[in-house]
Amino acid sequence: MKRVEGKVALVTGGAGGLGAASARMLAREGAKVVVTDRREGEARAVVEELGASGLFLPLDVTREDQWVSALARTVETFGRLDVLVNNAGMGIVKDVEEMSLDEWRFVHSVNLDGVFLGCKHGIRVMRECGSQGSIINISSIAGLVGVPQFPAYCSSKAAVRMLSKSVALHCAYKGYGIRCNSIHPGYVETAMVEALAQAGGQAEKTRARMLKGIPAGRFGEPDDVAHAVVYLASDESKLMTGAEMVLDGGATAQ
Ligand SMILES: NC(=O)c1ccc[n+]([C@@H]2O[C@H](COP(=O)([O-])OP(=O)(O)OC[C@H]3O[C@@H](n4cnc5c(N)ncnc54)[C@H](O)[C@@H]3O)[C@@H](O)[C@H]2O)c1
Repeated sequence: MKRVEGKVALVTGGAGGLGAASARMLAREGAKVVVTDRREGEARAVVEELGASGLFLPLDVTREDQWVSALARTVETFGRLDVLVNNAGMGIVKDVEEMSLDEWRFVHSVNLDGVFLGCKHGIRVMRECGSQGSIINISSIAGLVGVPQFPAYCSSKAAVRMLSKSVALHCAYKGYGIRCNSIHPGYVETAMVEALAQAGGQAEKTRARMLKGIPAGRFGEPDDVAHAVVYLASDESKLMTGAEMVLDGGATAQ
């Protein structure tokens, strides 16, 4: 028996990076996986790798109407929803003095409103299909410690941490059997971190500075996060709710 055999998962922001790695590993471990994103071409390419276990659906996580239709299509196609990975996210590299109110709101709309909408409608759909499911919210170590160039990113990711705990407690006290946890990766080699390294125009220097802050001496790989996603998606973690998994090579242990 594979680790998430028979489960149906929906992953947001699944076109690349951590979302695509999580989708691939969930499918390898026996789940049916709905890969969603705003970037249709890249997301469809991931789904092609998954064969009959995969389905692409367009979903901009800031749009409540798209959440409602993507979740309905998931249940129509695969019969249920057991795992929701709220992974879609973005950042703007500007300090608090440079950032406009529109930019601040935009980051929060994707990173926080998107996760709120996922939790709200994910719980509803899991309950409708009688699933004791698992909601996995991808936060960041930027939700645990401050970063001067990322005020909106840090704020939104810190809020995801507390939203996750509140959702976990709500579901536990209501007796739904639905769990909710957050994952807090440090720097992982994806397009997002590459863009960050390039942002200052001195990519090699920036990468070296990032690496210096990681006691383990290496960046994370997308599969490091995907392993944590599969664990939280599986019944192996059935006692775990309202918790946070930090995957950062010791960066926040200092
Ligand atoms: N890479 C890291 O070092 C790192 C560290 C900590 C946390 N994270 C978090 O992990 C998650 C994945 O990041 P990644 O590194 O794979 O980044 P990525 O840029 O490779 O992937 C993010 C995906 O989210 C999608 N997306 C953005 N806005 C969206 C929206 N409104 N609706 C739907 N999809 C949207 C993008 O199209 C993209 O495919 C993010 O939440 C990010 O904040 C990443």
